[in-house]
Amino acid sequence: MSTEQPTENHIRLGVFFQGVNSNTVWKTPEAGSQTDFESFRRLAQTAERGLFSAFFLGEGLRLREHLGAVHDLDVVGRPDAQTMLAALAAVTSNIGLVATQNTTYNDPADLAHRLASLDLLSGGRAAWNIVTTDNAWTGANFRRGGYLDHQDRYTHAEAFVETAKAIWDSWGSEDIAATGRQASWLKPGAATPIEHQGAHYTIDYTSRLPRSAQSRPVLFQAGDSDEGRDFAARQADVIFSAHTGLQAATDFRADITARTLKAGRAASAVKIMPGAEFILAETPQAAEEKRRWVKEQQIGPQQALAYLEQFWGESLEGIDPEGPLPSFDPKISESDVTRGSGFQGAKPVELTREWRETATAQGLNILEFVRAKSGRSDGTFAGSYTQVADRLEQFAARGLVDGFNVTPWLIPNGLDDIVNHLVPELQERGIYPTEYSGSTLRENLGLDAVEPATAKHHSDTTIIEVGA
Ligand SMILES: Cc1cc2nc3c(=O)[nH]c(=O)nc-3n(C[C@H](O)[C@H](O)[C@H](O)COP(=O)(O)O)c2cc1C
Repeated sequence: MSTEQPTENHIRLGVFFQGVNSNTVWKTPEAGSQTDFESFRRLAQTAERGLFSAFFLGEGLRLREHLGAVHDLDVVGRPDAQTMLAALAAVTSNIGLVATQNTTYNDPADLAHRLASLDLLSGGRAAWNIVTTDNAWTGANFRRGGYLDHQDRYTHAEAFVETAKAIWDSWGSEDIAATGRQASWLKPGAATPIEHQGAHYTIDYTSRLPRSAQSRPVLFQAGDSDEGRDFAARQADVIFSAHTGLQAATDFRADITARTLKAGRAASAVKIMPGAEFILAETPQAAEEKRRWVKEQQIGPQQALAYLEQFWGESLEGIDPEGPLPSFDPKISESDVTRGSGFQGAKPVELTREWRETATAQGLNILEFVRAKSGRSDGTFAGSYTQVADRLEQFAARGLVDGFNVTPWLIPNGLDDIVNHLVPELQERGIYPTEYSGSTLRENLGLDAVEPATAKHHSDTTIIEVGA
């Protein structure tokens, strides 16, 4: 283990394997399977070669739908996250293994047990990316329908996470007899029972597992509403954010710092890692050419129309993708939040009128407009290795983020450029780790150790009252 501590201005990297998504370029001979273990192994091992902190798996509990049918333009492949990460634990040694898992449709004791199992089996490398998806459409998969009102998601999530933390905390570090020579394997009074009686569930549970090398899984959070941010400020070790541009990251950091301090935690207790796409080449010209090609692959005529249809709320079949935006207003006044659209709260009528004006003023047809819209996104780092390293140096110097979660546009070789060229350049500049700082994810993210639960330990039942 290295004694080198990561400095505050280090950029760390994670890789986010999205599963169902429209960003992965798959109509190219280089694209590999989204379900073969080989793809995941290749990606995780490349990331580890590049000293990435974490390998993330997204979660979607139902296929995205579009106008009442499965959205067949998305790339699909999403084996169960914890099954996949357990397999990856066996072929990697250092990289963190982050499972996105929903609080709404899981059960706390069961999920806490499975995450603790992954943490133990991986030697303290597990993390939980907490998400709260609540839509009726996903709920139907679980015979629960809507299940939760939108505003209850985070109250429910808080009780869920507090219960999981109490479960992980309920065994002391030395509860198991070290040898078989003692009379009993579990020390008297160890394994404190956990009780939670709340609005959504009642639990009386005794953990079946000792603590892991990092005490408990690292907690990530992804969700951007006010409630989501407050929840993260109280509970998360790391936020997986969507704010990648310099200004957006500055504002987000300030906002989270204020919320974290208000929650009574040190500002440094919550790390921030926005999602980002990297399109790299040797020269600026080659990178620009590649960026354009990637964008064309990601957004073809069908994707461009489907994008608009989400807002227009009806089929735009027959409309020429190389013609102007539809001249009529959308059918619905709100985008359909229950079908996996990422545009919750957007007002399609106002928005589409604005788009029409912009497209006309700039002389853009539908295809060009949709490509330009996503092409301007803050979330893409495109350029030569030096250009992108320069940009990342700005983030590092200002301490705006603790790292980025790379969403590769190609599976499984989409990290090769980063690992072979960008990482060495960042290391030379002293803003990227040159080795893993420790064996656990907590150490590699520069997070404080979780205190052993000696005070609470050997007491009677621990009662969780949050969200009761
Ligand atoms: C960067 C990012 C990644 C996310 N990844 C997932 C995911 O893999 N699976 C999922 O169900 N939700 C995911 N979410 C959605 C959130 O869990 C949440 O349901 C959504 O953002 C709405 O919550 P909010 O109202 O707090 O923003 C992600 C959100 C963000 C910002």
